[in-house]
Amino acid sequence: MTKLARRTWLAAAWLLVAGLLLAPAAGAQGTVTVLCSPSVVWCDVLKDEFPKATGINLEYIRLSSGEGLARLRAEKDNPTFDVWFGGTGDPHLIAFREGLTEFYKPSSWDDLVPAFREVTGETYLPLYAGILGWAVNEQMLNSMGLPIPRTWKDLTAPVYRGLIAMPNPNTSGTGYTMLATILQIYGEDEGWKLLRDLHFNVAQYTRAGAEPGLLAGRGEVAIGVTFMHDALHQAIQGFPVTVKAPADGTGFEIGGLSLVRNGPNREAAIRFIEWALSPEAQVLAAQRGESYQLPTNVNTPLDERSPRFSDVRVIPYDFEHWGDPAVREAVVSRWTNEIYPIPRPRN
Ligand code: G6P
Repeated sequence: MTKLARRTWLAAAWLLVAGLLLAPAAGAQGTVTVLCSPSVVWCDVLKDEFPKATGINLEYIRLSSGEGLARLRAEKDNPTFDVWFGGTGDPHLIAFREGLTEFYKPSSWDDLVPAFREVTGETYLPLYAGILGWAVNEQMLNSMGLPIPRTWKDLTAPVYRGLIAMPNPNTSGTGYTMLATILQIYGEDEGWKLLRDLHFNVAQYTRAGAEPGLLAGRGEVAIGVTFMHDALHQAIQGFPVTVKAPADGTGFEIGGLSLVRNGPNREAAIRFIEWALSPEAQVLAAQRGESYQLPTNVNTPLDERSPRFSDVRVIPYDFEHWGDPAVREAVVSRWTNEIYPIPRPRN
């Protein structure tokens, strides 16, 4: 080998080694592991888009809000998730209060809707808002000669026996929001009675909050208790459901985003949080036709079809109280022990 050839070969070898060493730093910067609580289709959008924006891979597991809280509790000493994306706010607040997550102040803080930020304070981050309501299959009710319900109380009428689906509050944050809503509107005594009477009309308790709308869309039930934007999703997909808000008032969620305490990849989690609160990321769900919540960054364009607070009678939901670990525990166990096991008549 001539001197020149040897030098060229050495230089080429060096470039190859340097390239190999540098490649991981310039390419994928690890993986962020997300506990993802909205619909799977939205979680899939995150999995596709976050790596494109940052070069960081994203893995997720979809768990409903109550299940997510249970998983974080079980993993407290050895967390496998870096960040919790979405799901109703109450369990996020509980996770924070139990030290499972920690507050991180994003650079977009001042751009988050002040009214939501004031509620959450320095606990979890407001990611989106959604209003609780119903997906009603009016064709089905009409064909049975039944009236369209207007209030939560209407849902307890015996004519709706076996025609309602609602989420199970043990697993679903939507289900818990519904219990909390009814107890806030009607108070303890009347509220628990209403929940008991409603139980006799329920055909199915679902694991996730969006499922009752699916069941109503398929005509398996006539009324699905779900967030209004989930009902809207069914309607846009062409299923025969109408989006309804109860006339006696309804609750809402300030869906959460939380940094898991002691997660395996904190740096990637922070990159994810920064991205998830940006208008570019917040617009994706509605743009892809996957989800229609109200985004929390004031600079995110709003889909004109998203249900708005101004169109609905929304209650002043007491997040402080209903996001208390002891309150959730008491309410969910009472429902599970005193209402859920009561045999339901078959129609
Ligand atoms: C749906 C809604 C979200 C909500 C979530 C809660 O995906 O679109 O707005 O936060 O349900 O899920 P869960 O299954 O816990 O009720």
